[in-house]
Amino acid sequence: MSRIERLISSMTLAEKLGQLTMTASSYAVTGPVIAGDSTDAIKAGTIGNLLNMVGAEHVREMQRLAVKESRLGIPLLIGFDVVHGHRILFPVPLAEAALFDPETWALTAREAAKEASAEGLAMTFAPMLDVARDPRWGRSVEGPGEDPWLAARIAEAKVRGFQGPRLAAADALAACAKHYCAYGAVTAGRDYASVDISERTLREVHMPAFAAAVASGVAAVMPAFTDLAGIPMTANKALLRGWLRDRWGFKGVIISDYNAIAELMRHGIAADLAEAAAHALNAGVDIDMMADAYRRGLPIALQRKLVTMAAIDESVRRVLTLKEQLGLFDDPYLRGRTPESAAAFSGRRKLARAVAGRAIVMLKNDGETLPLSGSLRRLAVVGPLADAPGEMGGPWWGAAGRVGHVSVTAGLREMLGESHIQHAAGVAIDDEDVSGIDAALDVCASADAILLCLGEAADMSGEAASRAHLGLPGKQRQFAQAVFERARDLRKPVIVILFSGRPLVVPWLMDQADAVLAAWFLGSEAGNAIADVVVGRLSPSGRTPVTWARATGQIPIFFGERSSGRPADPKDHYTSKYLDAPNEPQFPFGHGLTYGRFTLFNLRVTPVNAEDIDTLQIRVDVRNEGARAAEETVFLFTRDKVASVARPLLELKGFAKISLPPGESGTVALSLRAGELRFLGLDLEPVFEPGEVEILVGPCADRSKLLSATVQLSWSRPC
Ligand code: BGC
Repeated sequence: MSRIERLISSMTLAEKLGQLTMTASSYAVTGPVIAGDSTDAIKAGTIGNLLNMVGAEHVREMQRLAVKESRLGIPLLIGFDVVHGHRILFPVPLAEAALFDPETWALTAREAAKEASAEGLAMTFAPMLDVARDPRWGRSVEGPGEDPWLAARIAEAKVRGFQGPRLAAADALAACAKHYCAYGAVTAGRDYASVDISERTLREVHMPAFAAAVASGVAAVMPAFTDLAGIPMTANKALLRGWLRDRWGFKGVIISDYNAIAELMRHGIAADLAEAAAHALNAGVDIDMMADAYRRGLPIALQRKLVTMAAIDESVRRVLTLKEQLGLFDDPYLRGRTPESAAAFSGRRKLARAVAGRAIVMLKNDGETLPLSGSLRRLAVVGPLADAPGEMGGPWWGAAGRVGHVSVTAGLREMLGESHIQHAAGVAIDDEDVSGIDAALDVCASADAILLCLGEAADMSGEAASRAHLGLPGKQRQFAQAVFERARDLRKPVIVILFSGRPLVVPWLMDQADAVLAAWFLGSEAGNAIADVVVGRLSPSGRTPVTWARATGQIPIFFGERSSGRPADPKDHYTSKYLDAPNEPQFPFGHGLTYGRFTLFNLRVTPVNAEDIDTLQIRVDVRNEGARAAEETVFLFTRDKVASVARPLLELKGFAKISLPPGESGTVALSLRAGELRFLGLDLEPVFEPGEVEILVGPCADRSKLLSATVQLSWSRPC
């Protein structure tokens, strides 16, 4: 009999339910925590998994209690939200998506895993894979942006990065893909609200990233808090057992979200904790995070015959298997035994700076305001986010806390010298006080250029941080208007550094600023990275992974929409448009300027007659007509104009990058398997349809900027 089967056969019900329970236990040995001190429960073997612990010594002590003092000595699985770094923060996930660089997506996850595992952790509740097309939803910041294909690539890279080549390695973390599924589609962008979308949208938009995570070997999956058309995901048998386990073959562990099993009562599908626990277990949820519904509810559910012992054993088996795969039985202290060297940290800081610089999206740069020329070196760095190190990490700072991050003023002072930087906040991020505006305008008056640092506070995005107004909070608009006016009088350029966890809706700002950098929340090295871009040590290369709206009423606005039967036509009243706003976004998906100036030409696609088994080779020439070296990102879209089910106006199928010195040209090569042009047909099963498909290549999802060619698809064998 295997170790796991031996254990299961000797476990009491309480011990089994302990393996199915995860509770918060930071510093539980010494201090109080949300769930109370779990020390005794660990010794009794009735808590088998912990979350929210940091610090190698605490983790080790808890592990020791489980291994040495519990009857069966089963090691704990200890997880934490290692979302975009652990102690050293990389850019928030939405910002990192802007890199369009799978190697770097994987690398930052690898580095985060090394850092967290060196503190004894074995699991991260990441990657978050919720496609979000409604920026009111604060959790957009945690995710991959608006596109399902992009989300799937991020899923693959992140799972690879967190887990590494071998889950049992000392520096591997089990990844947990979350929140399955369609959490990003909450009604009106309000967090935790109900989700009610079509089966097609569910499968085409929200499921692919999770399928990709499973195909990449993700160890765990977390169902979303939300319900889907009345069936809470925590109890959604069709999606958990049906899709995840049966269709995709997922063999890992399903961990509920925080207290989500108990919330099945609030959702209105369970009358008491026993029913809630039975729903979740029967749907396939193995671990109960923080609801204590399994320990308290499943014994009653067993008596009522709502669940079977076989179902409990099945979940216990999966949890123990994961612990075994993580190497925890062989060496429970493997992770956390060897602290990382100082060199590892300094190397990681350098990486954080480089990645942060590449996550910046230059939204606007009129008259080549940026980079600042050598003669413009007395800078007024104003605004409430100019000297705000605590905000730089974004809404989830994990173990890093809010200190030690580099602010814009600190980064620029380091780069240019103290005497070149004058600072005044002007206003706070979000209050009514305007008494500091005049002093800040005086600071602007004595400078060569003005860096206006505006945006949201870090905690205005993230969980439970939906916003109905997507402009600047507090009195920032009033302050910005005053700065723009003064700058116009003084003929000084205003560069806006815009911090946010989502695309903000600030058309007035985009109109008036000379240059705008979307700085999202860039992590520990934010200020240094911004300084790198502002002075031109780095040419910005980030591209927005979400469409920016001009008006909140345009939301949801995304490039993958379908054609109307009455596409917008300014000359025809009865067409699909607004009376009071354009249809076009402020910035399309993929938008992002560089310090180069790129032209794309000479698109070649072969073969033009392709069979389903062929691979299309797509080449396009790129010339840098600007005066500086820069990196261009080229996107590949397709458009199936006539199909049995109407296809989106554009579908993302690839991207590539090319770095070019000024005046030089190069060729970007992309490939696309014709089989990837399959889509879900009338019966929602994948179908490959012969006919014409447009191949479009260009710098962003603005159709007018895309080069296009047509290929004719056919079957390799008659059907
Ligand atoms: C969030 C999850 C997170 C969990 C544990 C929940 O509130 O929805 O994303 O992993 O807490 O911290």
